[in-house]
Amino acid sequence: MQIIQTISELRKTLKNQTSIAFLPTMGNLHAGHIHLVEIAKQHAKCVVVSIFVNPLQFGPNEDLANYPRTLEADCAKLSGLADIVFAPSVTEMYPEVQTMTISPPPIANELCGATRLGHFSGVVTVVMKLFNMVRPDIAIFGKKDFQQLFMIKELVKQFNLPIEIIAGETVREVDGLAMSSRNGYLSTDERLVAIQLNMALRGIVVATKNGNKNFVELEQQAIQQLSQHNWLVDYISIRSSANLKPALATDKNLVVLGAAKIGKTRLIDNIEFCIDA
Ligand code: PAF
Repeated sequence: MQIIQTISELRKTLKNQTSIAFLPTMGNLHAGHIHLVEIAKQHAKCVVVSIFVNPLQFGPNEDLANYPRTLEADCAKLSGLADIVFAPSVTEMYPEVQTMTISPPPIANELCGATRLGHFSGVVTVVMKLFNMVRPDIAIFGKKDFQQLFMIKELVKQFNLPIEIIAGETVREVDGLAMSSRNGYLSTDERLVAIQLNMALRGIVVATKNGNKNFVELEQQAIQQLSQHNWLVDYISIRSSANLKPALATDKNLVVLGAAKIGKTRLIDNIEFCIDA
C-alpha cells in the first residue's frame, strides 16, 4: 500500500490504472469505513482511500480543530485492503482560497443543512476536486450520511461524471448505534444512552408500517421523547427516500432521518423502509 500526499504523485501513480474504486474519508477509520473499503475491493483492481479533514465543510462553531486526526492508525487498518492512501495537506488541496465552489440544490438547506450552513457546498466541492484528482470508475459512500449520498448522486448526475456511485450499508455497534468517528466524543454515560436516537427512529418505522401516516405528529412525538431524555434535537424527519422531499401518504419508499445532540456530541442516523401505500 502506497501513502501519497501530493496530487502530482497521485496522478503519476494512477496514470495507467484502468479500474479504480475510490472511498473518500476524513479518517479516524472504524468498521463502517472498512466495510466500504471491502465493497470497493469487490468492484475494481485498484482501491484508493482518501483521508482529508475538509475545512470547507465545517461551520465556524463546529469541530474542525478537534476532529480526530489518526493517520498512522488509519493506514494500519487499511494495509492489505487499500492500494493507495491519498492523504493531502490542506495547502495541497487548497493552495489558494477556494473562491469557486459548487452550489448544491435547495435540499442542501434542509435536514443537516438547515443548521450546518454551507456544509453540503463544502462536501460536494471537495468531492468534485477529489474525483478530478483520482478519476475513479466507482466511488463508495455510506448510507449513514444519507443526505450526503443523495447530494453526491445529484453531483454525478448533473455534471455527467462517468462515475458509478455505490451505497454501503450503515455498520452498527452491538446495541444498534450507527458507527461514526464522532462516537469517540461520547462520555461513558452518553454512550449508554446514545442508542435512544436510533430507538426513536425505529419507533417511527413501526408506527408507520402499522398504518400511522400522521408523519408530522410522529416526528413531534419522537422529538418530545428525546427532549425528555436530555437530547437537543436538530430534526427528526420522515422523507421520500427517492427525492428526500417530506413524505406523502402515498409514498412507499421512505427514510426517517434524525440528528440530535447528547451533551456536546451531535449524532445522526437514519432508517430506510418500505410501506404498502
Ligand atoms: O463523509 C465524509 O467523511 C466527508 O463528508 C467526505 C465525503 C469525505 C468529504 O469530505
